[in-house]
Amino acid sequence: MTDIWQSAMDHAVVLARKAGQVVRDAVGDAQKEAVMVKSSSIDLVTQTDQKVEKLIIQSVKEKFPTHCFIGEESVAAGEVCVLTDSPTWIIDPIDGTTNFVHTFPFVAISIGFSVNKQVEFGVVYSCLQDQMYTARRGKGAFCNGRPLRVSHQKDIRQAIIATEFGSNRDPGVVDKVFSSLKRVVSIPVHGVRGAGSAAINMCLVASGCVEAYYEIGIHVWDIAAGSLIVSEAGGVLMDVDGGPLDLMSRRVLAANNQSVAEHLAKEIDAFRVRRDDAAS
Ligand code: IPD
Ligand code: CA
Repeated sequence: MTDIWQSAMDHAVVLARKAGQVVRDAVGDAQKEAVMVKSSSIDLVTQTDQKVEKLIIQSVKEKFPTHCFIGEESVAAGEVCVLTDSPTWIIDPIDGTTNFVHTFPFVAISIGFSVNKQVEFGVVYSCLQDQMYTARRGKGAFCNGRPLRVSHQKDIRQAIIATEFGSNRDPGVVDKVFSSLKRVVSIPVHGVRGAGSAAINMCLVASGCVEAYYEIGIHVWDIAAGSLIVSEAGGVLMDVDGGPLDLMSRRVLAANNQSVAEHLAKEIDAFRVRRDDAAS
């Protein structure tokens, strides 16, 4: 049977590679780029983020004129952020903008594609590492064409957990982030890491390098593609409180298996943040 979304996925891979070249060309000059701020002084955006998002959306519009978009920089510019049943491209032109600005080498282009609110394919291109992660629903996850599989580890005490501090430094939020971190470190786990890119953290779970990743404060464009890459690599996704994942809730827990996920969820001091679709 033909896969009706395969040509869209092939196009996403081509665009991610093209965008990756733009980012690689810019990264040498990233420290000279004008850095602008969005929700807070540590929520950064550059002209390269905006240029890459335009490049991707323009090209998709030419090829698939009826499709919808949720793009990080378009939303920042005032577009609505609403996930409908229509075919929707969910785009983070640079996931890891802070890394990009500092030339810290984990920077990704993340393109998810959903239909009926279900992610059909995900493409995450870690462009400085030249690693192209892809997943098609029901057809597995791959990195540069090599199949991905999550770690077999069932004991969280032998796990590496990825997380991030996020871009909200309100004292109450920082307290909660650190109270969770303290509990996770004290399980004790083998280690805690963070790549500075939600999409890459999720690909690390899919690759079996880390057992789990959690964060509160991410956005749908950070996790849409990565969520399918994790599940197609055999992993599980949930809310940080152990309930079902809601892509618009700005909370995510991705793990290699249910037992690691449930243990981790018990240690997280979960709090609510304004949803991505709150104003829509
Ligand atoms: C950010 C990165 C970071 C995560 C933030 C995200 P951006 O995305 O994924 O790792 O901690 O929550 O917003 O701003 O670089 O696209
Ligand atoms: Ca971004």
